[in-house]
Amino acid sequence: MKICFATNNKKKIEEVKSALGPDFTIVSLEEIGCHEELPETGDTLHHNAFQKARYVREHYGVDCFADDTGLEVEALDGEPGVYSGRYAGEPRSDSSNIELLLENMKGQSNRKAKFKTVIALVLEGKEYAFEGIAEGEIIHELIGSGGFGYDPIFRPDDYDKTFAQLSMEEKNEISHRGKAVKALADFLK
Ligand code: IMP
Repeated sequence: MKICFATNNKKKIEEVKSALGPDFTIVSLEEIGCHEELPETGDTLHHNAFQKARYVREHYGVDCFADDTGLEVEALDGEPGVYSGRYAGEPRSDSSNIELLLENMKGQSNRKAKFKTVIALVLEGKEYAFEGIAEGEIIHELIGSGGFGYDPIFRPDDYDKTFAQLSMEEKNEISHRGKAVKALADFLK
């Protein structure tokens, strides 16, 4: 089965390919000739994921899935949430986002946070959604050099390391996106 993953992020494609195995051919946006920025104007992860997947289906005529992820911090009423990528504004910068988040968390004793991923699938005219959550806490300083985004300040529950200190395999095992991808893979298989 050939299906497009609406991203050009090589790490994400690699992760999905390894979860789905050889029976599926996963193609990136580039590989279907899509070089434009996909619309992502909603105020929920669900809305954005479906917006991207439907856009690809409508304009490029291929079955497709798309993901959207946010970090929800309890003491900040769920912020940055759907705006995680551009929390500190444009252009998007992981280090500015982290700096702003740590600033906003100053003096907060409740450090609980969770990553949430929604995957929207548009397949043979039907739509499906899959979700994955990773719970943990926001630490006070950056630790570790792996991963991306907020990984150096996020320590998952039951671990004494941040996401940025885990190998890609270890992170995929417990991460929001890893869980959502597994749900998608179980469904497609
Ligand atoms: P996206 O929807 O996957 O593009 O994610 C939006 C933003 O959430 C990214 O720009 C990152 O700032 C953050 N993010 C998503 N996934 C992760 C992750 O696995 N670790 C840390 N930050 C992430």
